[in-house]
Amino acid sequence: MNRIITKTDALRGELTVPADKSISHRAIMLGALASGRSVVRNFLRAEDPISTMNAFRSLGIAIADNGTEVVIDGKGIRGLQEADEVIDCGNSGTTMRLIAGVLAGNPFFSVLTGDASLRSRPMGRIIAPLRQMGAEIMARGDGRYAPLAIRGVALKPITYTLPIASAQVKSCVLLASLAIEGCTRVVEPGQSRDHTERMLKSMGADITVGTMRASLTGGRELQPFEMTVPSDFSSAAFFIAAALVVPKSEILLRGVGVNPSRTGMLEIIKRMGATVTLENIREVSGEPVADIVCAAPDLLKPVSIGAGDVSLAIDEFPVLCILASQADGTTLIRGAKELRVKESDRIAAMAQGLRRMGVLIEEFEDGIAVSGKAKLRGAEIETFHDHRIAMAFSVAGLIAEGQTTIRNAECVDVSFPGFYECMERISR
Ligand code: S3P
Repeated sequence: MNRIITKTDALRGELTVPADKSISHRAIMLGALASGRSVVRNFLRAEDPISTMNAFRSLGIAIADNGTEVVIDGKGIRGLQEADEVIDCGNSGTTMRLIAGVLAGNPFFSVLTGDASLRSRPMGRIIAPLRQMGAEIMARGDGRYAPLAIRGVALKPITYTLPIASAQVKSCVLLASLAIEGCTRVVEPGQSRDHTERMLKSMGADITVGTMRASLTGGRELQPFEMTVPSDFSSAAFFIAAALVVPKSEILLRGVGVNPSRTGMLEIIKRMGATVTLENIREVSGEPVADIVCAAPDLLKPVSIGAGDVSLAIDEFPVLCILASQADGTTLIRGAKELRVKESDRIAAMAQGLRRMGVLIEEFEDGIAVSGKAKLRGAEIETFHDHRIAMAFSVAGLIAEGQTTIRNAECVDVSFPGFYECMERISR
C-alpha cells in the first residue's frame, strides 16, 4: 500500500501516541518468567510486541488480552515448555535477541526465525556471549544469522564487555543469567536503554546497576507485577520533529516516557536551538513520564553528532536527518555505524530518500552529512519496509512541495498503528 502525504500549514493540538515498544516486549517476557499473574495496562498492540506475545504463548504461557489489560500467568524462571513449532519473531530484533537469552538456559530445543529483514540482521552479537556462558546455538551463515537453533543447557555466569552499546545484547545476557546461581556481569561502552534493569529490580531480582554496568545473581524468584506502559518516546519523536519543521506549529504530547536513556534527541534538539518543554513530570510504573510541548522555532542550527550521542537517540536518527535538512547549514552525523544494521540500512535509506527530495547528502560508512535549508520536493520514497523510514519521510512530506509517496506505508504497524490518522488529526 502506498500513502500520499501533502504539505500542511501547521500542526496543532494534543496527541497521545501509542505505548512504548521496548517496555511492552519486556512486560510480556518478564511477566512470563514471574511466579504468578501480572497485569499490563496500555500494552502496545503492534506487530512487534505481538510477535513476543505469540512466542511466549507457544512456550506454554497463558496470556489473555481483553483489549484493556493484558494478563500473563507467569510460570517462574524455569517454567517455560518446548514449543512444538518454529518461533516466528516477525520483524522484531528485540523479540529474537532477548528470547534467545531466555531459551539458551531452558532444557529443551527451540528454533527462532523472522522476516527477510530480521534474517539479515547480525545475531553473532548475542551468540558470542551466550556461547561463552556455555550455550549451544547454531545459526545460518556460519553462526551469524537467523534462523537460530538452540539446545538449552545449564549456563555458567560470565563477565561480558559489550563491543557496542546495545540494550538488546545487554538484556539477552541478563535474561540468560536469571536461572544461574552465580553472578553475571555486563559492561557497556555507552549507555543504552535500561528498561530491563528497572523492571528486574522492581520484581525483586538480585541485580545491581551502575553506570554502564549491571550485575545479576540468578536463581531468585521474580515477583509478578501490575504496570501501565507509558507512550513511546520513539513514536513521539516523529511528531516532535514535525512540530519543529512545520511553521506555526504547536502540539502537546501526553504521557510520554522520558527515561534519560531514551531522550538523547531532546539534547540534540537543544543544541539545534529549539525548545521542547517537559511538563507534569511524574513516575509511572518505575519509568519517568512527562507531557511534551513543542513549537516551531524561527531557526534550527546545524549540529555535529558523534559517537557519544548515538546510543541515547539510536532510533531517532531517521527523523533527525529530516530536521537536519531544515537547519541553517550542514549537520554531520558520525559514529553511527549501527544504523546500517537496523530494520533496514538506515543510512542508505535516508540518503536515497532525501536525495530524491532534493537534499544534498554525503554518505559515510558510519554516518551522513545533511545539507540544510533544503526546499523539499515531493518524491516517491522507498521505505525498505522499515517503519521508522516510512514515518520520517511522512514528516518530510508535510513540508515538501507536491506529493510525497510513501511506499509500503503499512510497515508503520510494526510500532505505530494509526500513525497516519494521528498526523491527519493535528494537521491544519
Ligand atoms: C531496543 C534496543 C535498540 C533499539 C531497538 C529496541 C530494545 O537496539 O534500536 O529499536 O528494546 O532493547 P540495539 O540494542 O540493537 O541498539
